[in-house]
Amino acid sequence: MADLTTTYLGLKLKNPVIAGSSGLTNDIENLKRLEKFGAGAVVLKSIFEEQILIETDREVSAADLVSHSEAAGYLTTMTKEHSVYGYLELIEEAKKAVSIPVIASVNCLTSGEWTKFSKRIQEAGADALELNILITDYKNRDSKEIEKDYVRIVEKVKGIVDIPLALKVSTLFTNIPRMLTGLSSGADGLVLFNRYWSPDIDLDEMAVSSGNVYSSPEEITVPLRWIGLISNLVECDISATTGVHDGNGVIKLLLVGATTVQVCSALYLKGIEHIGDIVSRADAWLDAHGYASVKEIRGLLGPKSEEERRVFGRAQFMKYYTLKE
Ligand SMILES: Cc1cc2nc3c(=O)[nH]c(=O)nc-3n(C[C@H](O)[C@H](O)[C@H](O)COP(=O)(O)O)c2cc1C
Repeated sequence: MADLTTTYLGLKLKNPVIAGSSGLTNDIENLKRLEKFGAGAVVLKSIFEEQILIETDREVSAADLVSHSEAAGYLTTMTKEHSVYGYLELIEEAKKAVSIPVIASVNCLTSGEWTKFSKRIQEAGADALELNILITDYKNRDSKEIEKDYVRIVEKVKGIVDIPLALKVSTLFTNIPRMLTGLSSGADGLVLFNRYWSPDIDLDEMAVSSGNVYSSPEEITVPLRWIGLISNLVECDISATTGVHDGNGVIKLLLVGATTVQVCSALYLKGIEHIGDIVSRADAWLDAHGYASVKEIRGLLGPKSEEERRVFGRAQFMKYYTLKE
């Protein structure tokens, strides 16, 4: 058996496979099972900035935060069902129930009042905090201004908590490497990439519905490409998410420079116990290829110079298209 131990956000993990944030990590029994089957760490389900504001600030109502009445109704119901104080309890209970690191998660849009609540998350015992940020203020501000908000959020929360901070972002930036290298100087980790909700249309019901909620293994090419391109440029750890469904996926992402990987859809589709299979198959790959530890393979295939990055980012693709002609 290879040495799978790794350090992520300064935390010691028994292996690099993390159960990513989702409804599955909102339940203590699931967290115990994730630990039992081999998860290296867990990221709890996110709470939303809006939930925090509604519950912690008496002046704020759902209608103040979202103009659409249906969205305000949803927000009010969700806040009643999942109280932020319940979230603090979840962190406390999780810390008692499992010995692997427990990472809390907030889905946020601003560096506003909600950020004070991050202190409570730390006090509840979270080992680290992951911020899931997707700012979609397309109408009122240009991209440069929106990008500055990401930096402001990191600076603000870093000034409030001492626990490590990871940032989960999507690919929705024009210049992904530049944006991510900038963010990496403030955060302890980048979680790449958030898979944003995709709409579909139900033609029978004539209504908007959810598109593919779960990822497919083919989607791994997105984190593979960008982590490969930036892993030698950023100053912090990288946790890969999207499209990891098996042990080979873990190995591929480590090879391009990820520190850890997060799995979610595969656990919904195949059950929580599947995380054990992912870990053991990654281990088997290392054994079969003569590597004694995950550290030995990290970044082996990631481009290390500007020239190699050009090859990785463009020449491969030119070669592929030329061959197809
Ligand atoms: C049902 C479901 C719920 C999710 N909830 C959250 C969440 O609360 N916070 C978050 O940061 N990501 C959430 N995600 C995103 C996952 O953590 C993960 O980043 C994404 O699904 C891509 O990884 P995968 O290909 O392994 O599914 C959710 C995903 C699914 C499918």
